Amino acid sequence: MKNKDRLDREKEFHNEAFATGKRKKVKKYYKTTDRSKNFYRDKIHKDVAGKSVLEYGCGPGSQAFSLATAGAKVTAIDISEVAIEQTKAEAEKQGLEMECFVMDAEDLSFDDHSFDRVCGSGILHHLDLDRCYKELRRVLKPGGSGIFFEPMGYNPVINLYRKMTPDLRTDDEHPLLNEDFELAGTYFDEVNPHYFHLTSIAASFIPVASAQSALAGPLNGLDSVLFKSLPFLKKYAWITVVELKTTAKNHSA
Ligand SMILES: C[S@@+](CC[C@H](N)C(=O)[O-])C[C@H]1O[C@@H](n2cnc3c(N)ncnc32)[C@H](O)[C@@H]1O
Repeated sequence: MKNKDRLDREKEFHNEAFATGKRKKVKKYYKTTDRSKNFYRDKIHKDVAGKSVLEYGCGPGSQAFSLATAGAKVTAIDISEVAIEQTKAEAEKQGLEMECFVMDAEDLSFDDHSFDRVCGSGILHHLDLDRCYKELRRVLKPGGSGIFFEPMGYNPVINLYRKMTPDLRTDDEHPLLNEDFELAGTYFDEVNPHYFHLTSIAASFIPVASAQSALAGPLNGLDSVLFKSLPFLKKYAWITVVELKTTAKNHSA
Protein backbone atom coordinates (compact mmCIF):
# COMPACT_ATOMS: atom_id res chain seq x y z
CA MET A 1 0.00 0.00 0.00
CA LYS A 2 2.85 2.34 0.97
CA ASN A 3 4.55 1.65 -2.36
CA LYS A 4 1.34 2.28 -4.29
CA ASP A 5 0.84 5.62 -2.51
CA ARG A 6 4.36 6.69 -3.46
CA LEU A 7 3.86 5.74 -7.11
CA ASP A 8 0.50 7.54 -7.19
CA ARG A 9 2.11 10.69 -5.77
CA GLU A 10 4.87 10.55 -8.41
CA LYS A 11 2.34 10.06 -11.19
CA GLU A 12 0.08 12.89 -9.99
CA PHE A 13 2.95 15.36 -9.48
CA HIS A 14 4.48 14.72 -12.90
CA ASN A 15 1.15 14.62 -14.77
CA GLU A 16 0.48 18.11 -13.45
CA ALA A 17 4.05 19.36 -14.07
CA PHE A 18 4.07 18.17 -17.71
CA ALA A 19 0.50 19.31 -18.43
CA THR A 20 1.32 22.85 -17.21
CA GLY A 21 4.90 23.05 -18.54
CA LYS A 22 6.24 23.86 -15.04
CA ARG A 23 9.46 21.84 -15.53
CA LYS A 24 10.41 23.57 -18.81
CA LYS A 25 10.34 26.95 -17.05
CA VAL A 26 12.78 25.71 -14.39
CA LYS A 27 15.14 23.95 -16.82
CA LYS A 28 16.08 27.14 -18.67
CA TYR A 29 17.93 28.31 -15.53
CA TYR A 30 20.18 25.24 -15.57
CA LYS A 31 22.76 26.33 -18.23
CA THR A 32 25.47 25.47 -15.69
CA THR A 33 24.77 21.80 -16.25
CA ASP A 34 25.49 21.89 -20.00
CA ARG A 35 28.83 20.15 -19.39
CA SER A 36 27.34 17.20 -17.48
CA LYS A 37 24.38 16.97 -19.88
CA ASN A 38 26.73 16.85 -22.90
CA PHE A 39 28.82 14.16 -21.19
CA TYR A 40 25.63 12.12 -20.58
CA ARG A 41 24.34 12.66 -24.14
CA ASP A 42 27.68 11.61 -25.67
CA LYS A 43 27.72 8.42 -23.57
CA ILE A 44 24.17 7.36 -24.40
CA HIS A 45 24.55 8.10 -28.13
CA LYS A 46 27.94 6.36 -28.53
CA ASP A 47 27.73 3.59 -31.19
CA VAL A 48 23.97 3.43 -30.64
CA ALA A 49 22.83 2.68 -34.21
CA GLY A 50 20.99 -0.66 -34.28
CA LYS A 51 21.05 -1.04 -30.49
CA SER A 52 17.93 -1.56 -28.39
CA VAL A 53 17.69 1.29 -25.89
CA LEU A 54 15.21 1.87 -23.09
CA GLU A 55 14.71 5.45 -21.93
CA TYR A 56 13.72 4.97 -18.31
CA GLY A 57 11.40 7.66 -16.85
CA CYS A 58 11.49 9.56 -20.14
CA GLY A 59 9.20 12.45 -19.15
CA PRO A 60 8.02 14.17 -22.34
CA GLY A 61 10.60 12.31 -24.44
CA SER A 62 13.87 13.71 -23.22
CA GLN A 63 16.60 11.85 -25.25
CA ALA A 64 14.31 9.33 -26.96
CA PHE A 65 14.01 11.39 -30.17
CA SER A 66 17.72 11.97 -30.75
CA LEU A 67 18.43 8.31 -29.94
CA ALA A 68 15.86 7.19 -32.52
CA THR A 69 17.27 9.69 -35.04
CA ALA A 70 20.71 8.16 -34.42
CA GLY A 71 19.34 4.76 -35.45
CA ALA A 72 18.61 3.15 -32.07
CA LYS A 73 15.55 0.96 -31.52
CA VAL A 74 13.99 3.07 -28.79
CA THR A 75 11.49 2.15 -26.11
CA ALA A 76 10.42 4.90 -23.71
CA ILE A 77 8.57 4.40 -20.44
CA ASP A 78 7.20 6.67 -17.74
CA ILE A 79 4.66 6.40 -14.95
CA SER A 80 3.00 9.63 -16.10
CA GLU A 81 0.32 9.22 -18.78
CA VAL A 82 0.77 12.88 -19.77
CA ALA A 83 4.50 12.30 -20.35
CA ILE A 84 3.82 9.29 -22.57
CA GLU A 85 1.07 11.10 -24.54
CA GLN A 86 3.49 14.00 -25.15
CA THR A 87 6.33 11.63 -26.14
CA LYS A 88 4.08 9.80 -28.61
CA ALA A 89 2.82 13.08 -30.10
CA GLU A 90 6.38 14.42 -30.55
CA ALA A 91 7.61 11.14 -32.07
CA GLU A 92 4.76 11.29 -34.57
CA LYS A 93 5.48 14.95 -35.35
CA GLN A 94 9.14 14.09 -36.03
CA GLY A 95 8.21 10.97 -38.02
CA LEU A 96 10.17 8.72 -35.64
CA GLU A 97 9.35 5.12 -34.80
CA MET A 98 9.57 4.18 -31.14
CA GLU A 99 7.59 2.26 -28.57
CA CYS A 100 6.16 4.22 -25.65
CA PHE A 101 4.49 2.76 -22.58
CA VAL A 102 3.02 3.95 -19.29
CA MET A 103 4.95 1.63 -16.96
CA ASP A 104 6.41 1.50 -13.46
CA ALA A 105 10.21 1.51 -13.66
CA GLU A 106 10.34 -0.75 -10.62
CA ASP A 107 8.14 -3.42 -12.22
CA LEU A 108 8.92 -3.67 -15.95
CA SER A 109 6.88 -5.88 -18.28
CA PHE A 110 9.83 -6.55 -20.61
CA ASP A 111 11.45 -9.97 -21.00
CA ASP A 112 14.84 -10.70 -19.44
CA HIS A 113 17.80 -9.44 -21.50
CA SER A 114 15.72 -7.12 -23.73
CA PHE A 115 18.02 -4.07 -23.97
CA ASP A 116 21.61 -3.23 -24.88
CA ARG A 117 21.38 0.04 -23.03
CA VAL A 118 19.06 1.69 -20.50
CA CYS A 119 19.37 5.44 -19.95
CA GLY A 120 17.56 8.07 -17.96
CA SER A 121 17.90 11.56 -16.55
CA GLY A 122 16.52 12.53 -13.18
CA ILE A 123 14.82 9.17 -12.70
CA LEU A 124 16.81 6.94 -10.30
CA HIS A 125 16.36 9.39 -7.44
CA HIS A 126 12.58 8.99 -7.73
CA LEU A 127 12.72 5.22 -7.28
CA ASP A 128 13.10 2.48 -4.72
CA LEU A 129 16.63 1.63 -5.83
CA ASP A 130 16.63 -1.96 -4.67
CA ARG A 131 13.60 -2.70 -6.86
CA CYS A 132 14.92 -0.61 -9.74
CA TYR A 133 18.46 -2.08 -9.84
CA LYS A 134 16.98 -5.58 -9.80
CA GLU A 135 14.80 -4.76 -12.82
CA LEU A 136 17.61 -3.00 -14.68
CA ARG A 137 19.92 -5.95 -14.20
CA ARG A 138 17.16 -8.31 -15.40
CA VAL A 139 16.25 -6.45 -18.61
CA LEU A 140 19.83 -5.62 -19.67
CA LYS A 141 21.51 -7.99 -22.12
CA PRO A 142 24.80 -9.56 -21.02
CA GLY A 143 27.44 -6.87 -21.53
CA GLY A 144 24.78 -4.12 -21.53
CA SER A 145 24.90 -0.97 -19.45
CA GLY A 146 22.75 1.60 -17.70
CA ILE A 147 23.72 5.28 -17.95
CA PHE A 148 22.01 7.83 -15.72
CA PHE A 149 22.17 11.59 -15.12
CA GLU A 150 21.21 12.21 -11.49
CA PRO A 151 21.48 14.78 -8.68
CA MET A 152 23.72 14.09 -5.68
CA GLY A 153 22.49 14.65 -2.13
CA TYR A 154 25.41 16.06 -0.10
CA ASN A 155 26.03 19.65 -1.20
CA PRO A 156 24.72 22.02 1.53
CA VAL A 157 24.09 24.92 -0.91
CA ILE A 158 22.04 22.75 -3.25
CA ASN A 159 20.25 21.15 -0.30
CA LEU A 160 19.30 24.60 1.02
CA TYR A 161 18.00 25.56 -2.44
CA ARG A 162 15.98 22.31 -2.46
CA LYS A 163 14.49 23.17 0.93
CA MET A 164 13.54 26.64 -0.33
CA THR A 165 11.80 25.29 -3.46
CA PRO A 166 9.67 22.36 -2.25
CA ASP A 167 7.06 22.86 -5.00
CA LEU A 168 9.60 21.86 -7.65
CA ARG A 169 10.07 18.36 -6.28
CA THR A 170 8.14 15.34 -5.07
CA ASP A 171 7.99 14.36 -1.38
CA ASP A 172 9.64 11.02 -2.05
CA GLU A 173 12.61 11.96 -4.22
CA HIS A 174 16.06 11.36 -2.75
CA PRO A 175 19.17 12.75 -4.49
CA LEU A 176 21.83 10.05 -4.59
CA LEU A 177 24.18 9.18 -1.72
CA ASN A 178 27.32 7.03 -1.72
CA GLU A 179 25.32 4.16 -0.24
CA ASP A 180 23.15 4.16 -3.40
CA PHE A 181 26.30 3.41 -5.45
CA GLU A 182 27.27 0.71 -2.95
CA LEU A 183 23.83 -0.89 -3.38
CA ALA A 184 24.29 -0.73 -7.18
CA GLY A 185 27.54 -2.64 -6.68
CA THR A 186 25.57 -5.62 -5.35
CA TYR A 187 23.68 -5.87 -8.69
CA PHE A 188 26.22 -4.72 -11.30
CA ASP A 189 29.76 -5.77 -12.17
CA GLU A 190 30.97 -2.18 -12.49
CA VAL A 191 29.59 1.06 -11.05
CA ASN A 192 31.32 4.17 -12.41
CA PRO A 193 30.06 7.52 -11.14
CA HIS A 194 31.42 10.69 -12.83
CA TYR A 195 31.01 13.91 -10.85
CA PHE A 196 30.13 17.43 -12.04
CA HIS A 197 29.59 20.92 -10.63
CA LEU A 198 30.99 22.30 -7.40
CA THR A 199 32.21 25.91 -7.74
CA SER A 200 30.18 26.10 -10.97
CA ILE A 201 27.02 25.81 -8.87
CA ALA A 202 27.51 29.57 -8.23
CA ALA A 203 26.79 30.25 -11.91
CA SER A 204 23.26 28.80 -11.59
CA PHE A 205 22.23 31.65 -9.35
CA ILE A 206 22.84 34.20 -12.13
CA PRO A 207 19.45 34.87 -13.75
CA VAL A 208 20.85 35.72 -17.23
CA ALA A 209 21.48 32.61 -19.35
CA SER A 210 24.36 34.10 -21.39
CA ALA A 211 26.23 35.28 -18.25
CA GLN A 212 25.55 31.90 -16.65
CA SER A 213 27.12 30.07 -19.61
CA ALA A 214 30.13 32.42 -19.70
CA LEU A 215 30.92 31.85 -16.02
CA ALA A 216 30.05 28.13 -16.04
CA GLY A 217 32.81 27.29 -18.56
CA PRO A 218 35.84 28.26 -16.45
CA LEU A 219 34.22 27.16 -13.18
CA ASN A 220 33.44 23.72 -14.62
CA GLY A 221 37.10 23.50 -15.63
CA LEU A 222 38.13 24.37 -12.08
CA ASP A 223 35.72 21.71 -10.77
CA SER A 224 37.39 19.00 -12.88
CA VAL A 225 40.76 19.94 -11.38
CA LEU A 226 39.33 19.97 -7.83
CA PHE A 227 37.62 16.57 -8.18
CA LYS A 228 40.84 15.07 -9.52
CA SER A 229 43.18 16.54 -6.93
CA LEU A 230 40.86 16.38 -3.88
CA PRO A 231 38.67 13.28 -4.39
CA PHE A 232 36.85 13.74 -1.06
CA LEU A 233 35.06 16.69 -2.74
CA LYS A 234 33.35 14.39 -5.25
CA LYS A 235 30.41 13.66 -2.97
CA TYR A 236 29.61 17.40 -2.88
CA ALA A 237 29.05 17.46 -6.64
CA TRP A 238 25.63 18.61 -7.78
CA ILE A 239 25.33 16.03 -10.59
CA THR A 240 26.58 12.53 -11.23
CA VAL A 241 26.51 10.62 -14.51
CA VAL A 242 26.67 7.03 -13.35
CA GLU A 243 27.35 3.98 -15.50
CA LEU A 244 26.12 0.57 -14.33
CA LYS A 245 27.76 -2.21 -16.32
CA THR A 246 27.16 -5.91 -16.62
CA THR A 247 29.90 -8.08 -18.04
CA ALA A 248 28.91 -10.69 -20.59
CA LYS A 249 30.52 -13.48 -18.52
CA ASN A 250 28.84 -13.02 -15.13
CA HIS A 251 25.40 -11.99 -16.27
CA SER A 252 22.34 -13.73 -14.88
CA ALA A 253 18.88 -12.22 -14.62
C1 LIG B 1 12.58 14.65 -12.90
S1 LIG B 1 11.51 13.91 -14.07
C2 LIG B 1 12.65 13.60 -15.41
C3 LIG B 1 11.97 13.43 -16.73
C4 LIG B 1 12.92 13.31 -17.93
N1 LIG B 1 13.75 12.13 -17.84
C5 LIG B 1 13.77 14.54 -18.06
O1 LIG B 1 15.00 14.46 -17.93
O2 LIG B 1 13.18 15.60 -18.33
C6 LIG B 1 11.26 12.29 -13.36
C7 LIG B 1 10.45 11.38 -14.23
O3 LIG B 1 10.37 10.10 -13.61
C8 LIG B 1 9.04 9.61 -13.77
N2 LIG B 1 8.81 8.60 -12.74
C9 LIG B 1 8.77 8.75 -11.40
N3 LIG B 1 8.56 7.57 -10.79
C10 LIG B 1 8.48 6.64 -11.78
C11 LIG B 1 8.26 5.23 -11.80
N4 LIG B 1 8.10 4.51 -10.68
N5 LIG B 1 8.25 4.60 -12.99
C12 LIG B 1 8.42 5.28 -14.16
N6 LIG B 1 8.61 6.62 -14.20
C13 LIG B 1 8.64 7.30 -13.04
C14 LIG B 1 8.19 10.85 -13.64
O4 LIG B 1 6.89 10.69 -14.14
C15 LIG B 1 9.03 11.85 -14.44
O5 LIG B 1 8.72 11.83 -15.79
